[in-house]
Amino acid sequence: MKIYIGSDHAGVDLKELVKQHFANQFEFVDAGTFTNESVDYPDFAHQVAENVLKDEQGRGILICGTGNGMAITANKHAGIRAALCWSPEIAALAKQHNNANIIVLPARFISPQLAMDTLDAYFKAEFEGGRHQRRIDKINL
Ligand code: RB5
Repeated sequence: MKIYIGSDHAGVDLKELVKQHFANQFEFVDAGTFTNESVDYPDFAHQVAENVLKDEQGRGILICGTGNGMAITANKHAGIRAALCWSPEIAALAKQHNNANIIVLPARFISPQLAMDTLDAYFKAEFEGGRHQRRIDKINL
């Protein structure tokens, strides 16, 4: 499974840790950013969202300071379900109930260890379908 990943300057350090941590598990396609220089989060959220929409098996990881800018932007793309997650429980439910295809992390409010545990829970979880599929089918306008 390919993981499309992106961050702004607030998330770049965590993004690099995430790629190292999961290097043996996933192939990463990194949209950037690659330095601590200030950038605009939508530039990266749009790239990752577009890539996830093109690759049905693919998933996305977006990271900014709060996670909100990335989530708000990615969710403008019909078919993207980007979930802001800060605990393993929320991350598992984001997959089980919402079939989230992008997980968003708040780099300034989560420790690296909790971020890895949160991602782990997301990747291990499976979508439950059923009533949750019915609800997802009602999301797009
Ligand atoms: C950057 O300072 C910060 O605004 C950004 O990372 C993010 O938190 C926006 O939602």
